[in-house]
Amino acid sequence: MEQRGRIVAENLVKVYNGQVRAVDGVSFEVNAGEVFGFLGPNGAGKTTTVSMLSAGLRPTSGRAVIDGLEVSQNPEEVKRRIGVIFQESTADGDLTGLENLEVAAGCYGISASEARSRARTLIEQMQLGDAADRYAKTYSGGMRRRLELAVGLVHRPRVIFLDEPTLGLDPQGRAGFWGFIQKLRKDIGMTVFVTTHYLDEADEMCDRIAIIDHGKIVATGSPNDLKDGLGGDVVTLKTHAGASEITTILQALPGVHAIQHSNDSYRAKVQSGETFVPLAVEAATRAGVGITGVTVKRPSLDEVFLEFTGREFREEEGPNATDRAVMMQRVRGQLQGRR
Ligand SMILES: Nc1ncnc2c1ncn2[C@@H]1O[C@H](COP(=O)(O)OP(=O)(O)O)[C@@H](O)[C@H]1O
Ligand SMILES: [Mg+2]
Repeated sequence: MEQRGRIVAENLVKVYNGQVRAVDGVSFEVNAGEVFGFLGPNGAGKTTTVSMLSAGLRPTSGRAVIDGLEVSQNPEEVKRRIGVIFQESTADGDLTGLENLEVAAGCYGISASEARSRARTLIEQMQLGDAADRYAKTYSGGMRRRLELAVGLVHRPRVIFLDEPTLGLDPQGRAGFWGFIQKLRKDIGMTVFVTTHYLDEADEMCDRIAIIDHGKIVATGSPNDLKDGLGGDVVTLKTHAGASEITTILQALPGVHAIQHSNDSYRAKVQSGETFVPLAVEAATRAGVGITGVTVKRPSLDEVFLEFTGREFREEEGPNATDRAVMMQRVRGQLQGRR
């Protein structure tokens, strides 16, 4: 198997302070060029996993392999081959966009002239050309995220880790940011590992996802496979009041998993709503029962999460104060490492 650009996690465990089991035996494989979403609620262990994969944090046990290199044995080489962008801003506000990129390139030993040319190209790619010579502190949230993405790409990594890159961005900013990610994947064929607690985003943008909850992976697969795994669509049919019952008729139709009947409505779990609806209407009509209303609902990742965890996925407000303090510590550590 080609190792370039691959990410392998084998039974990763992280116990903080001998007591908090933040990551509890996580295993998965990400293929080169994939956009892999790591999805879970706040505190699930996403940032801790990214930190272990990106050589920022030593696992308590288990191992990570990136680009064919065992991370704990080659942390410096791994860091050179990957890009990492954490939740909190790491761009220096008192430098311009271009300067931020040149400084970052310098940290990787890229020559000054090469750094200048890469910085210029990247800043244009991120549509920050007009703001290239402005201090980063004057950038909007979305512009800062794009600058950070550019910083993470300056050394042309094969794998990029993005920890909740769209947290706090408005829908337009989120859509724009994903546009860049998709383009990068297409243009460079880079592997993208992205954490998020936005289910809709993961559903739309990722080739495959893993759902993590309380430090454990509860499901892995493509969003479509995971949703299909729930048994397809949910169709609700309404009939006239007092119409005769058609449960057995509906049950006999192809692709039907289950029918629930209450009052004048039927809730059908079916393989495909599109195929089922016309057949159901026809069968009901033939039995002399008129259908007065139909809804088809494709399951979303919310239902997948519910199925695998037994809980609703709550969209929380964002990091709490403790998480923020932990994050700031990491950011400071990263900056010190660069100087
Ligand atoms: N440095 C740390 N020390 C102690 N506990 C931590 C530390 N970092 C994270 N945790 C705890 O580990 C768990 C997972 O955290 P984290 O990986 O940040 O989750 P996520 O990124 O999914 O929100 C949480 O319970 C969090 O409070
Ligand atoms: Mg996090």
